[in-house]
Amino acid sequence: MTANNMRDDWWKQAVVYQVYPRSFKDANGDGLGDIAGVTSKIDYLKQLGVDAIWLSPFYPSDLADGGYDVIDYRNVDPRLGTMDDFDEMVKVAHEAGIKVIVDIVPNHTADKHVLFQEALAAGPGSPERDRYIFRDGRGEHGELPPNDWISLFGGPAWQQVPDGQWYLHIFAKEQPDVNWKNPDIHEEFKKTLRFWSDHGTDGFRIDVAHGLAKDLESVPLDQMDPLAVQHGLCHDFTSPLWDRKEVHDIYREWREVFNEYNPPRFAVGEAWVVPEHQHLYASTDELGQVFNFEFAEANWDVDAMRSAILAGLKSAEETHGSTTTWVMSNHDVPRHVSRYGLPQVPASSHHQLAKDWLLRDGTSYFEDRELGTKRARAAIMMELGLPGSTYIYQGEELGLPEVADIPWDRLEDPTPFFTRERFIEKGRDGCRVPLPWDSSDVPAPAEWNAGFGTGASFGFSPATKADGTASADPHLPQPLWYKQYAADVEDADDASMLNLYRTTLSLRATLLTATGDTADCAAVDAGHDVIAYTRPSADGRRFASYTNFGSAPVELPAGEIVLASGDVADGQLPQDTTVWILLD
Ligand code: NOJ
Repeated sequence: MTANNMRDDWWKQAVVYQVYPRSFKDANGDGLGDIAGVTSKIDYLKQLGVDAIWLSPFYPSDLADGGYDVIDYRNVDPRLGTMDDFDEMVKVAHEAGIKVIVDIVPNHTADKHVLFQEALAAGPGSPERDRYIFRDGRGEHGELPPNDWISLFGGPAWQQVPDGQWYLHIFAKEQPDVNWKNPDIHEEFKKTLRFWSDHGTDGFRIDVAHGLAKDLESVPLDQMDPLAVQHGLCHDFTSPLWDRKEVHDIYREWREVFNEYNPPRFAVGEAWVVPEHQHLYASTDELGQVFNFEFAEANWDVDAMRSAILAGLKSAEETHGSTTTWVMSNHDVPRHVSRYGLPQVPASSHHQLAKDWLLRDGTSYFEDRELGTKRARAAIMMELGLPGSTYIYQGEELGLPEVADIPWDRLEDPTPFFTRERFIEKGRDGCRVPLPWDSSDVPAPAEWNAGFGTGASFGFSPATKADGTASADPHLPQPLWYKQYAADVEDADDASMLNLYRTTLSLRATLLTATGDTADCAAVDAGHDVIAYTRPSADGRRFASYTNFGSAPVELPAGEIVLASGDVADGQLPQDTTVWILLD
């Protein structure tokens, strides 16, 4: 148990490791990661030094959206294991001093969810149908959708059912939005929160946290902003779909459930809202924390990074009692080693450039992996020295780049599925490829595509299933270059990304336990190209972190250099490098 994890407010300064279960570790050889696979890697995670794991959905699902289409919120997908496997995983994690966070998906269910099936069967006007957002269509026979909204994954946001009505789906058509004005929905999700809390879960990550409250009544649907789905960032709470004030009533209600437990359960919201509204979700009488995605959106640019840090610290101050979060990568964005290794264009065009690069299978721009890796090393140290919680996405500790050239016919993400005919988007699978654990388990180059392997999986799956037959290939193809990033290779290399993460996390735990107060973190002016800050260190000295983005080396202050992300000599900090110093 880390000292931090013995406190009830452990989550304020936590390092949370995101597990995307289907791609983390496969224990039974079916090519899909599973819960027993997570349990088998708890030692690895303990050695890494994380305080908690957050599991993306592992519930029964048809995988229309990587598990975010949940058929049963209070169960484990049989392909991923059983409730007993889950309980065992929680037990092993807790014994290792690691907390467990699960993902709650309350904006929509899967279309196969029993409540949606009941809504379909019960017909228009029924109480069952009121649990979702059904409307009559336009046109003489209701043959047109209620309005022209486009879903976030492409295609119409309304789907017609056999009796003629239409239901709203902001995401895939297999993900009908639920109606949070219906009391049954409140009861259903409170039951789910209690269910997982009773199974020892320490906290929750709330999917699409800013989307639950909707107002589809004040203005006729066909007179609403045709781009209301896409116009997510709203300053004045007037969007019919996003970031409405009433959403906070739901989280205050949930806080009462969280506080039924000792210690109270914790939650972090995925809320894509304007920075000045983040603190509303993070307030301690609501979720407690919210993701600050500015790092994940920033390119390797000193101004973008500085503004991400300042926005995070400011939002933490506004919550009075909570802390901010730092996120560089997750299962929805291209891996940051690749992002930082692509041409660095102004922030506004950066994501478009990455999308364009993916669309062309990683050929349209040169990806400088060496440079991207150097920057990623500097970035994680800059991030982990800051007050607040850091979320690490699986494989980031291995420095994995994005797999940009997955063949189109092997993709699973719905985004390319809807746009495939037009080939305008490649989707999010490139960061969801199963992890490489073991460099001795190397696939043979496949005939059909020289870059990818079959027949072995870098230790993602066992060689054989329990019945002795060969394991299935991983559900997404692994590139042959994965070998150099395998955990065993990095374990044996002192200079690897994995060992940098281990050392950084262990120093963070010993040097920075004193306080996580945002107010104690002070910016240091070391010139425009340098991001530098200081905080009190646990031994009463001042801790400082310096990152140099500029080409000219920077003179470091006097003190003990405890860690550097790259070579530092003669007190000079080179470009794209971070150092941690205990100041004299
Ligand atoms: C956010 C999740 O992170 C993403 O993966 C998912 O597609 C959407 N929410 C819809 O649930």
